[in-house]
Amino acid sequence: MEKLVIEGGTPLHGSVRISSAKNAVLPIIVAALLPETPATVVDAPELDDVRTICSVLESLGVVIHRNGREMTFDAAHIDRTEASYELMSRMRASFLVMGPLLAKKGHAKIALPGGCMIGSRPIDLHLKAFEAMGAEIQIHNGYVEASAPQGLKGAEIYLDFPSVGATENVLMAASLAEGRTVIENAAEEPEIVDLVTFLSSMGANIKGAGTNVIRIEGVKRLEGVSHTAIPDRIEAGTFMIAAAMAGGDVVVENVLSEHLKPLLAKLTEAGVKVVKEDIDRVRVISDGHIRSTDIKTLPYPGFPTDLQAQFMALMTIGSGVSTITETVFENRFMHAGELQRMGASIQIEGRKAIVTGVPFLQGAFVRATDLRAGAALTLAGLAAHGTTEVGDLHHIDRGYDHLVEKLQGLGARISRVGTN
Ligand code: UD1
Repeated sequence: MEKLVIEGGTPLHGSVRISSAKNAVLPIIVAALLPETPATVVDAPELDDVRTICSVLESLGVVIHRNGREMTFDAAHIDRTEASYELMSRMRASFLVMGPLLAKKGHAKIALPGGCMIGSRPIDLHLKAFEAMGAEIQIHNGYVEASAPQGLKGAEIYLDFPSVGATENVLMAASLAEGRTVIENAAEEPEIVDLVTFLSSMGANIKGAGTNVIRIEGVKRLEGVSHTAIPDRIEAGTFMIAAAMAGGDVVVENVLSEHLKPLLAKLTEAGVKVVKEDIDRVRVISDGHIRSTDIKTLPYPGFPTDLQAQFMALMTIGSGVSTITETVFENRFMHAGELQRMGASIQIEGRKAIVTGVPFLQGAFVRATDLRAGAALTLAGLAAHGTTEVGDLHHIDRGYDHLVEKLQGLGARISRVGTN
């Protein structure tokens, strides 16, 4: 089994460059199903989730040309509209192909998705929206089958929750639907805005991205363009918390600090020095002494749920008591049990975790239970006394581009050992 071996207690120094955002690149690659001519993603991150979504597209007949981190997608000859369980169960975001397939082919048959086991994560909002746009939906034998033989029609869609995935799925479908679609209570995440930038440069007519009402006038066809996605705010936040926790002086490059306002505010509240050095550069200086601070996860622009586990790791060595409230996902505290194995004091009460800081964590063998939990345990290992081993690395490989090499570049004593 492969694992990370971390010798804790070394402060981090130097600079780290953040990759393109996983959660922007995935929907953008899916949106490459829509145009009639090839579309290119420049500087894609090297991630298992990116490999998975490429396999999904290839299984539908998309031809992909790879040149290092540049990928070109030719969807002129999509000849299948069915995505298998084998591919869908690897990653929930694969469900995003439903919107483009319905819009372009009038049919999609997709296995119910899998992905990180953080709560039940239904897809009801996606399906309700497609029904409102005239699709007929049937669920049978673990598959969702949707058809719109006469094509999708624009509709007024109110999302009960500002779901990122549902907003993206509807955006892609509505770009080629007939007439106007309005999404109310839409997600406002920067990754939505980036997807809309990509769709718009391909010829889509979309207004209001980044607000909670998005209006889309369907167009007849889209043309492929070349796109570089925004920096990964979650990867950037993970490195900032790493520096805060292990101590040291780290410059995070290729980060848009306006996407990380809640984290920067909370790190400052926790006694960490955060300096915005430039529009795309943030410096984090910490002596490892952390003040306990409360957080509550919320849809953007609130504190991101994808940084909750890493922030909890930081709070385990805080000087007092911190309350962490998770409102986006149910059951997203699996990392708490593993952190406890390293000596952390955490009590879970429903959607709240009460974290009482301890003077130090102790190295232990722990398992990544999901992607961000894996990151949190790695950070805990960097700050802990002694040796920490992190297993189940496939979760981390889904979403962190060369995490080990980047941490080594900052002086961390971390290595990957064993065989896959
Ligand atoms: C995306 C991100 C993920 C992040 C999450 C919230 C990608 C590839 N993944 O996931 O990293 O943690 O946003 O910021 O971009 N829900 C429903 N019905 C639905 C859809 C969602 O009840 O039809 C619920 C979910 O169960 C969850 C909440 O809404 O509790 C948020 O989900 P959503 O915003 O859709 O997250 P994802 O798009 O899956």
